[in-house]
Amino acid sequence: MREIRPLRQEDWNDYVKISMNAYPGMRVNTAVEQDRLRNRGQRMNADPTITFYGLFENGALRGVMRLHDFTMRLHGVDLSAGGVGAVAVDLYHKKRRIAYDLIQFFLDHYRERGAPLAVLYPFRPDFYREMGFGYGRKMNRYRIKPADLSGDGRRENVVPLTNRDRHALVACYNRFMAQNNGLMALSDFAVHTFFHSPKLRLAGYWQDGLLRGYLVFRFEPLGEDNFLRNDLVVRHLVYETPEALRGLLAFLHSQADQIERIILHTQEEDFHLLLADPRNGRAALMPSVYHETNTQGTGIMYRLIDLPRYFALLRERDFGGQTVRLRVTLADSFYPVNAGSWLVDFADGRARLGESGDYDVEIRLDVAEFSSLAVGATDFRRLMTYGLAAISDRQYIDTVQRLFYTEKKPLCMTAF
Ligand SMILES: CC(C)(COP(=O)(O)OP(=O)(O)OC[C@H]1O[C@@H](n2cnc3c(N)ncnc32)[C@H](O)[C@@H]1OP(=O)(O)O)[C@@H](O)C(=O)NCCC(=O)NCCS
Repeated sequence: MREIRPLRQEDWNDYVKISMNAYPGMRVNTAVEQDRLRNRGQRMNADPTITFYGLFENGALRGVMRLHDFTMRLHGVDLSAGGVGAVAVDLYHKKRRIAYDLIQFFLDHYRERGAPLAVLYPFRPDFYREMGFGYGRKMNRYRIKPADLSGDGRRENVVPLTNRDRHALVACYNRFMAQNNGLMALSDFAVHTFFHSPKLRLAGYWQDGLLRGYLVFRFEPLGEDNFLRNDLVVRHLVYETPEALRGLLAFLHSQADQIERIILHTQEEDFHLLLADPRNGRAALMPSVYHETNTQGTGIMYRLIDLPRYFALLRERDFGGQTVRLRVTLADSFYPVNAGSWLVDFADGRARLGESGDYDVEIRLDVAEFSSLAVGATDFRRLMTYGLAAISDRQYIDTVQRLFYTEKKPLCMTAF
């Protein structure tokens, strides 16, 4: 018999065994490394928003996952979202639908708690797309020569942050979160990691006594043969004002004497506008003639788990000022409770779930694509162009485009 429940004290040794075999790349082999993995798991589990679950068969642990109770700022509204990470199945029990049961449990768990969305980072995008998760905004990796960043910002306003600045950092992030779309509130565990990880450094930009931006970064040696050659890897860049951005960039610019490249990860597509030379150092040209500026990857995925709740929570959002009775028909083979048709009545952009009845137009699509649309990671016209959505009356394409369009594509800076 299968049971899924939170891990208890006596389960952590088995958790370590399953995880170390599921993620050999983490190189957990020695007793010390195993202790470290267990302690880290237990420390995370102590955060009230994080819980490790196990799937047990007749009492034996077969699979694990970590659930995160997130608050996401979506289209200007704070709502709950469920996150899952560290999914791992016992090496000897793969392909027995253990991951399937874990993910079903995960979706039910958050649906019952009123979350309209679930999120995850996929180990393989296709595995989770089949389960109905849609792509979020892509991540860009820039490899910038420090001298190519502008040095004219107010570097004197940039100072290292210490544990005393915790509240200022959280307040700055919260304001940044309010300005943007899709960001999730910082967990205590994440803030603790920023300030206590021996590898991480924090640089903050202060303006009139307020922290207006910060960088979380670390150094990465370029090789064994010369310890003086390092890259500087920026994990987070948060800024509320152009001055804060330019100040932080000036700080990075000033590292030119010692740092080969700033490795900067950002979901902003336009970052090359900030670089004197936008090329990332790879000489090969793309036809004809395009210079490589950054590499890109897809990561964070979103999944709608409760369409009525999504529209109920976003009742104050302006869906493009449109007035239309829209029928949404979702295909959801993995989670059938979420499949079906709904009538959404938009009046001057405000959405209300309607009773079944007349409608102006119907759209039909898979939950994965609707999820990308619902968070603003893609737009309806693109889905139509790619044949990933269908519409009952093509004259309404522009209306539906305007309903879901947002210039603020979703950001995610939460590692889990
Ligand atoms: C990846 C991993 C979690 C898979 O675990 P698993 O228990 O072997 O996977 P499952 O047997 O549950 O396979 C998924 C099932 O869901 C099914 N499924 C997926 N989408 C579906 C859908 N839309 N409708 C119906 N079924 C669906 C698949 O068909 C598959 O079932 P099948 O094999 O009977 O066809 C496991 O191999 C593992 O631990 N890997 C290493 C660690 C890792 O990479 N973890 C992921 C981190 S995010």
